[in-house]
Amino acid sequence: MHTSPLITIQAITKSFKGVKAVDNLTLSVGYNEYVALLGPNGAGKTTLVEMIEGLQKPDSGSITIQGKTWQKDAAFLRTIMGISLQETKFTDKMTVSEVLDLFGSFYKLGKKVTRQILQTIRLEEKAKAYVVTLSGGQRQKLALGVAMLNNPQLLLLDEPTTGLDPNARREIWDILMQLKKERGTSMILTTHYMEEAAYLCDRIVIIDKGKILADDTLATLLTSYDPGEVIAFQVSSPLATNSLYEIRGVKDVHWIEEGVKGMLTVESITHTLPVLLNLVESSGNTITSFESRKKTLDDLFRTMTGRSLHE
Ligand SMILES: Nc1ncnc2c1ncn2[C@@H]1O[C@H](COP(=O)(O)OP(=O)(O)OP(=O)(O)O)[C@@H](O)[C@H]1O
Ligand SMILES: [Mg+2]
Repeated sequence: MHTSPLITIQAITKSFKGVKAVDNLTLSVGYNEYVALLGPNGAGKTTLVEMIEGLQKPDSGSITIQGKTWQKDAAFLRTIMGISLQETKFTDKMTVSEVLDLFGSFYKLGKKVTRQILQTIRLEEKAKAYVVTLSGGQRQKLALGVAMLNNPQLLLLDEPTTGLDPNARREIWDILMQLKKERGTSMILTTHYMEEAAYLCDRIVIIDKGKILADDTLATLLTSYDPGEVIAFQVSSPLATNSLYEIRGVKDVHWIEEGVKGMLTVESITHTLPVLLNLVESSGNTITSFESRKKTLDDLFRTMTGRSLHE
């Protein structure tokens, strides 16, 4: 058993011309643990990951990985990491297997290993295809294959499935879950997709403006931070916000379109719904659309910041 975490990040800060991209952030990641960094554009996810990767230097604070630091043990740290950047450009003039062989040669790996990886990422039929002819999803898979080549203890993936169709995304998820199970890999993954964070990761770290807003399991995030359910509705003519707060069990009213399109956070849909319907009807109004659901991470993020993850 390991007594200390794989990664220990202590109070790191990184600024660019007055913008604090990462602001006094502290985080640790355990062995065989998958952690998602979830946050809107510009939250500081890539900057944080690139500091862990040794590609950017923090202005202050420290990062220790397996007890080692980039200042002293860069060569060692490179051997235990598998990295895929937010934008990976492989030269278009190489084939898929040439790319894998080239990166494999950096780790002195033979073709047997690179062929195995080709199989794992399910790109065998594209082995001889030039990178320029690959689809976006196939390129992302190739990038993941390169990240996996050296059998890394730690995977750092920056939006590995952005823009992929659900099938391709699912395939990448399967590969990542297999690595976790069979090789005890740890991972930090940045994403905008809540389902991805929820499916893959043991812990979800929500960041915004360079700071951690929450760091917990999905179940704990959804129950302990802000339990409840959501009613999204639309009415034919405007309602007064105050009248909604008078309904027992309504915790929050969020208008998407003033007075007509809104979201209620409620303790219980079954208790609130009849009262809501009654209120709308008695004011001569009608409900034109209606949806109810359990809270999601996006609702949680909205509660924390007043904004959506996807705005
Ligand atoms: N090299 C740079 N020079 C100047 N500003 C930068 C640089 N890199 C990042 N920033 C700024 O730091 C902040 C965080 O950027 P970062 O790329 O880390 O965000 P992110 O969470 O990865 O966003 P996205 O989801 O869009 O990828 C942003 O305000 C960005 O403009
Ligand atoms: Mg980014």
